Amino acid sequence: MNNAKYIIEKELFDRDNLIYLLSVEGDERQYIYQKADEIKQKYVGNKVYFRGLIEFSNICAKNCYYCGIRRGNGEVQRYYLNEEEVLQAAEFAWKEGYGSLVIQSGERKDKWFVNQITNLLEKISDRTGEELGITLSMGEQTEETFLRWKKAGAERYLIRVEAFNPELYHKIHPNDAIHSYQQRLETLKLLQKTGYQTGTGVMIGLPFQTKSHLADDLLFFKDFDIDMVGMGPYIEHEQTPLYQYKDQLLPKKERLELSIRMVALLRIIMKDVNIAATTAMQTLDPLGREKALKAGANVMMPNITPVRYREGYLLYENKPCLDEEAEDCKSCLEARIHLAGGEIAWYKKGNPKHFHKRQQANNN
Ligand code: 5AD
Ligand code: SF4
Ligand code: FES
Repeated sequence: MNNAKYIIEKELFDRDNLIYLLSVEGDERQYIYQKADEIKQKYVGNKVYFRGLIEFSNICAKNCYYCGIRRGNGEVQRYYLNEEEVLQAAEFAWKEGYGSLVIQSGERKDKWFVNQITNLLEKISDRTGEELGITLSMGEQTEETFLRWKKAGAERYLIRVEAFNPELYHKIHPNDAIHSYQQRLETLKLLQKTGYQTGTGVMIGLPFQTKSHLADDLLFFKDFDIDMVGMGPYIEHEQTPLYQYKDQLLPKKERLELSIRMVALLRIIMKDVNIAATTAMQTLDPLGREKALKAGANVMMPNITPVRYREGYLLYENKPCLDEEAEDCKSCLEARIHLAGGEIAWYKKGNPKHFHKRQQANNN
């Protein structure tokens, strides 16, 4: 028996073994992918859940060193969608059977913003008969805001910690009060406490990042008992401070491969969580997301932001689907998923099985 097989069968998922699994090649690597697919079929099935992604606004109070829409980037034309644009996109997702929505935005906490999101949630729930599962992804907020948004119709929240190792976290964020590592973790806990299906994630292939950091990230997902994960390769953006380290990065092919291996290992260690095949994977390889689906991912997020705003939401370079209308992405994804041997779960919210289990455990 090879080592990877031994570790996986005996479930010996400590940090050193995870580092080992992140480093293997050849047959052992293939074994990991095959095992991840088997576990996916067994625990969550072959279905791919769609979440229509609305990029609500690129106005952001933060200045993360990696991100193209950071506050300090004066080249970006800032926007937010008006109410009608959001409602139309939500209706599109609903009518087309996507089952759920993700509304994503730069981070801000001002009153107007919090009220506007509340208002949009209420209107979306009205227009779609509460049939859509709604996820928010708009950074750190107060407990009061989380409760308000939940009451207005949000069920899920995504907040990537980006890097669970505090030193690495500080290397990729400014060292000030609004970029606090502790605050980020507290927010994640607050989401669980307020009853959200809770998602997080990291970037893979960051400058200064080691396999040991990535192994710790996997262990954090498990210790936090996270319900959903979105992770993808870090991709450099010229108008950001981290760009100066571009020559130290893993080659793109390896960065993608490492990202897919993280997906596979997460599926193996957590079994019933929802894992996204992310857009950043497609940026590095046209078939990147399909590869992730074959290695354990079960969620895709077709972009349904009106096309004229997409140039404004360039988190990283070469982001795909800049000119494709929602309908085009829909048919493109259908074809791709069928090619990858998956089936789309139309009209299903696709709540993470892990969340139900976590709730049952809490109620007992
Ligand atoms: N490369 C890859 N992903 C990025 N994000 C932001 N900037 C980059 C980048 N340069 C991701 C972050 C954030 C999400 C919205 O986009 O993980 O949480
Ligand atoms: Fe703002 Fe998020 Fe970009 Fe950080 S990663 S600058 S919080 S949009
Ligand atoms: Fe947008 Fe393929 S997913 S064009």
